[in-house]
Amino acid sequence: MSDTTSPSASPTLPSLAELETRLAQVPALDADALEAEYIAVLGRKAGALTALAKAIPTLPVDQRRTQGGEINRLKTAFEAAFDARRAELAEAARRRAEAGFDGTMPARRRWVGAIHPVTAVIDEITGIFRELGFAVAVGPEVESEWFNFHALNFPSDHPAMDMHDTLYVDAPRIPGERGGRLVLRTHTSPVQIRTLLESPPPVRVVIPGMVYRNDPFDPSHAPAFQQIEGLAVDEGISFVDFKATLIHFAHRFFGPDTKTRFRPSFFPFTEPSAEMDVECRLCRGAGCPACKQTGWMEIMGCGMVHPQVLENCGVDPERFTGWAFGMGPGRIAMQRYGISDIRLLYEGDMRFLSQFVLAKEAGR
Ligand code: PHE
Repeated sequence: MSDTTSPSASPTLPSLAELETRLAQVPALDADALEAEYIAVLGRKAGALTALAKAIPTLPVDQRRTQGGEINRLKTAFEAAFDARRAELAEAARRRAEAGFDGTMPARRRWVGAIHPVTAVIDEITGIFRELGFAVAVGPEVESEWFNFHALNFPSDHPAMDMHDTLYVDAPRIPGERGGRLVLRTHTSPVQIRTLLESPPPVRVVIPGMVYRNDPFDPSHAPAFQQIEGLAVDEGISFVDFKATLIHFAHRFFGPDTKTRFRPSFFPFTEPSAEMDVECRLCRGAGCPACKQTGWMEIMGCGMVHPQVLENCGVDPERFTGWAFGMGPGRIAMQRYGISDIRLLYEGDMRFLSQFVLAKEAGR
């Protein structure tokens, strides 16, 4: 062989120290890197140790013995390290197979976040009222009886104040806050009072938020649900403004040719009071299970703000008038998306909720 005649090949050969370092790295190699390193070190044609062994005869006589001994020691150590690592990798693969790991299974899809259907409805409603010059207000979910009932003109023996209908909170009162026991607010209407006390008219606000009632959790009830309140108080606001604004809203939200109707109703804090219905979106008024065959769906309670409520807030009812509404965006979401059980909206089941992500991706 030409080895003996070309000692100049030695600069390309790795040093023994370098090989020691590579030996220490063998236990961390993966299967492919391990086989490549095996050939690079021990390969019969181009392996580094093989080449070093072949170069021994070119060394000065007194170095040949020690160099030969070192090379043999390294060769044995490399062989042992490669064998050990191969066995380790084979064992890991065997364990993965035993655990049912299937490297060919497609990866899980990435989670895509999305707006909850009820939140989407609230955003759309506040957006429509924002265009009409309404601001968004919020208030506390733990309220005093004064804000939740008395200031809203509820008589003290009103059934809504019964323990069976309202969740009372056993907690110290908020210092400086107006009286009565604490309740989880049963509607967003107390924020009407807070708004009027804070900012005298003209006032135009919508107020989204959670409300709580001592109700069961069944297909048509939830003990906690969302409401969105509206309030407009100014000089010269009439019943015509009230109806026209809400009809405009219905046309913007449900479509321009949506039929609406107002039915007389009662709330202690509005006079006159009404329930507003819109034509059922699912059957277009023909009657279906979602609208209980009536062709209509009730979307809100509403009315002209009761003069006593204005007075309770220090607003002169001779000078100012206004109107208010309270609607349930959950109900509206159920109608819009054809959902028959209200619990689906509040349980947080991703198998249900992720359908709305897909609907959105597809352009709805
Ligand atoms: N607060 C009433 C309810 O929860 C709804 C309502 C709000 C009615 C404002 C009239 C005016 O049922």
